[in-house]
Amino acid sequence: MRSHYCGQINESNIDETVTLCGWVHRRRDHGGVIFIDLRDREGISQVVFDPDTVEAFALAESVRNEFVLKVVGRVRKRPEGTENPDMPTGMVEVLGKELEIFNRAETPPFMLDIEDDEVSEEHRLRYRYIDLRRPTMFRRLKLRSEVARTLRNSLDKKGFLEIETPVLTAATPEGARDYLVPSRTHPGQFFALPQSPQLFKQLLMMSGMDRYYQIVRCFRDEDLRADRQPEFTQLDIEASFMDEEELMSLMEDMMRDIFAHVLEAPLPKPFPRMPYAEAMQRFGSDKPDLRIPLELVDVADLMQNVDFKVFAGPAKDPNGRVTALRLPKGNELSRKEIDDYTKYVGIYGAKGLAYIKVNELAKGRDGLQSPILKFLPDETVDGIMQRTGAEDGDLVFFGADKANIVSEALGALRVKLGHDRGLLEHGWKPLWVVDFPMFEHDGKRWTALHHPFTAPKESDIDKLESDPGNCLSRAYDMVLNGTEVGGGSQRIYRADVQATVFRQLGISDEEAREKFGFLLDALKYGCPPHGGIAFGLDRLVMLMTGAASIREVMAFPKTQTAACLLTNAPSDVSDAQLRELGIKLRKPKSNADVDEQGESAGV
Ligand code: AMO
Ligand code: AMP
Repeated sequence: MRSHYCGQINESNIDETVTLCGWVHRRRDHGGVIFIDLRDREGISQVVFDPDTVEAFALAESVRNEFVLKVVGRVRKRPEGTENPDMPTGMVEVLGKELEIFNRAETPPFMLDIEDDEVSEEHRLRYRYIDLRRPTMFRRLKLRSEVARTLRNSLDKKGFLEIETPVLTAATPEGARDYLVPSRTHPGQFFALPQSPQLFKQLLMMSGMDRYYQIVRCFRDEDLRADRQPEFTQLDIEASFMDEEELMSLMEDMMRDIFAHVLEAPLPKPFPRMPYAEAMQRFGSDKPDLRIPLELVDVADLMQNVDFKVFAGPAKDPNGRVTALRLPKGNELSRKEIDDYTKYVGIYGAKGLAYIKVNELAKGRDGLQSPILKFLPDETVDGIMQRTGAEDGDLVFFGADKANIVSEALGALRVKLGHDRGLLEHGWKPLWVVDFPMFEHDGKRWTALHHPFTAPKESDIDKLESDPGNCLSRAYDMVLNGTEVGGGSQRIYRADVQATVFRQLGISDEEAREKFGFLLDALKYGCPPHGGIAFGLDRLVMLMTGAASIREVMAFPKTQTAACLLTNAPSDVSDAQLRELGIKLRKPKSNADVDEQGESAGV
């Protein structure tokens, strides 16, 4: 039907007759001549109709924005002075000879030359098919497709097989709530949608497939954020007889491939690595953004005996943490700004945010300004200044509380200050975080930091029961500019070790048998050492396109409350359907009821 995409016409086509199809981006009347900017996914061409072509001209007069047209015309150079060098097609225009209107359009609910945030996201999602006509959205989805293709090529070359796994399945413990699907043929019973294909990919290794990958939809009912959706896409990978060194180096190669191919951006070789403990210590986060040149500096030892309980308490508590964060040139922060940052760390449970402004170090205490100075003896103040490397004009923040609260709060503050103060270094900063703890204690019991199939370090197997808090795992996360883009591990491949880990997690033998009996059985029939990783494809593409959320790189995402505004899902179903499924609804009386019933029991 068409000879060229609208966006592909250029000076090499001059004097050619072309046929273009697309949407009317804009129509202008200029002293008896009509200009139509015709748009398709590849771009925009300017089409001109003059009154000599009587029929086409009359039709052109009637078109409005978003009408769908076919135009036949001759390409010519734009008259001098009217070129637009900012547009790829801006040196030429098409002199329209024939015009066909395929379809008329009502006035669209919003203009298409808007930026993402110029219209409410709700509106954009409700009319997503129109929103997706915007060139920005097309570019994002195109890049996403290129990334997927490059990933596939990269893995195909390395001998990985693309194998599909079921979507109607049993629960996979990745720490979120399951989406359940009722079974009609087994009344009262439910499938779970996979939180990941974790167990199936391990079974595929036991089946001898050796190298597996899949670009696969995963489902997690969890609190949504800018980088979380209830259904999202993983690049899921598993390999046998391949230890973490080999796997990580293969994955790095793949990432370097993608960034070189799609963005022409070089990534470092090798990626730096950092133990989890160091990441928490220096950055208060297991996904540190290395573009931000700020670090946490622990000062508990200097605060043991100060006359300020807020600091001395956590300083003496083995589970406490007292840490400082120096902000270069920070003493220009206003009272209001400091108050706002204090509120910000409050989100993470911090009860306050002490600070010292460093006006003039040479003057000793008199050169400092702080509501807490009066509590700190000289040697403590000197120690803090030295250890943080504070200079005139800086400000030093402090956090004191339980270690996890301080790390989270000051870790988040570090990132916020980095953005607010324009401290981000340019470019891509990938990082492997390694040496994760096997377990974390949630106050009541031990839970798996990754998932219960993650192998412990060989040297820690004996400590699984006697000293679980100090066991490290063979897990690794890939972090890029402060976002966790992927995570994986070497897996347990011995039935006895798997049983010990389940026990440690408080999963009884009966429960383990009931939930994962098939895996435990499979472990008995010849299981190779294996391991893998999964990347969040949406997150990766979000970073690569510079989009503000993963919703911007998904064609049809859900809202923050996990609904689809376009199709009105989820929605009520008929009584007949419910009856067929053997389901009787119990409507929650209030929101409080929902919260109570929704409490997660993740493994
Ligand atoms: P994990 O739970 O770390 O590991 O998930 C892997 C990657 O998936 C992405 N991701 C998400 N992206 C968008 N929305 C979400 N709700 C969401 N949750 C996770 C992240 C994350 O790094 N089976 C293991 C992998 C393995 O061990 O091989 C797993 O699923 O980028
Ligand atoms: P207060 O004595 O409560 O007025 O606190 C004095 C200063 O210490 C204020 O700047 C508070 O923001 C700060 N502060 C209070 N609690 C903490 C805490 N847990 N960590 C860091 N600073 C705190």
